[in-house]
Amino acid sequence: MSLIEVRDLTKTFPYKNSTVTILRGINLSIEEGETLCVVGESGCGKTTFGKILAGLHSCSGGSYRYDGQEVNTFTKKQSVSFRRNMQLIHQNPYESLNPSSMVFDMISAPLKHHRKIRNFSELYRETAALLEMVGLTPVEDFIDKYPTYLSGGQRQRVSIARVLSMNPKSIVVDEATSMIDTSMRISLLDTLKRIQRELKVSYLYITHDLALGRYFAWEHRLAVMYLGQIVELGPTPKLIGDPLHPYTKAILSAGDIEGRESYDLKGVDIPSFHALPPGCSLSPRCPQMIEGVCTVTEPVLSDIGDGRWVSCHLYREE
Ligand SMILES: Nc1ncnc2c1ncn2[C@@H]1O[C@H](COP(=O)(O)OP(=O)(O)O)[C@@H](O)[C@H]1O
Ligand code: SF4
Ligand SMILES: [Mg+2]
Repeated sequence: MSLIEVRDLTKTFPYKNSTVTILRGINLSIEEGETLCVVGESGCGKTTFGKILAGLHSCSGGSYRYDGQEVNTFTKKQSVSFRRNMQLIHQNPYESLNPSSMVFDMISAPLKHHRKIRNFSELYRETAALLEMVGLTPVEDFIDKYPTYLSGGQRQRVSIARVLSMNPKSIVVDEATSMIDTSMRISLLDTLKRIQRELKVSYLYITHDLALGRYFAWEHRLAVMYLGQIVELGPTPKLIGDPLHPYTKAILSAGDIEGRESYDLKGVDIPSFHALPPGCSLSPRCPQMIEGVCTVTEPVLSDIGDGRWVSCHLYREE
């Protein structure tokens, strides 16, 4: 049993007098201690998906099971435990921390609440241990600071420490490095990787930056999202070394990854969620589109062996 199992998941929002469907049948799972990176262009539905996994949105259709249990059938007690076990790290470390709280208060409050630690010296010790774990050392330089005095990268580390104070099994990391200095990004990702090795936590890592996704999930798996669907999923080195789906080939070609053959989509606009083309959503832009097939029938994400999944008629079984 996987920690996270998502089957045919959809999300529809109200739009004017009608609705718009953003997530269109997502299928994937995440194991304990695993990273799954979801990469895709801005606006394709990554944050919506992350919020559903984190329990901030409900899904409109399909199934989301956490630890074997359907999330929308949780009892109150199960819901409380889910909210502790499943955490989210936001994109913006300037908005996610309360400017009038000291670092110690931000981390010790959940320790008091969730781990029932009451004794001050124990609270201090646990808070200091979490600051050390996220690389905010020497601890004395950070524990009594307010967020204003911290850089974006340091704030994001405080956010991580706060999330870890709840002892979660899984964390949604949504573009967590996009608002911090480029020079600090890799070191923050390395910290998250080390935390995973030490605590066996699972990550859903969301990014529009394929190079960061490749780095963060190299030992794990990558899923490529296009217009609210997963078009390809597999072990990261295989997907990067031998991309199968035309959209994956195109983003790799555009992503400046060394030794990559050039592969361009046709120069037409990305369709809107409000006017999706019939058949495959990539068909107006796809250089390998099969007339009469791709424009008529929607491909489905299919297991093609070797841990790889692809949603494209070029790989369908005859
Ligand atoms: N609450 C909402 N109501 C209506 N539309 C939404 C809502 N949240 C997101 N969307 C739409 O869903 C699409 C995907 O958004 P999002 O999940 O934020 O994408 P990403 O994180 O990949 O940039 C966008 O077109 C966005 O406008
Ligand atoms: S199904 Fe057809 S249009 Fe879609 S990606 Fe594959 S070849 Fe291109
Ligand atoms: Mg987003």
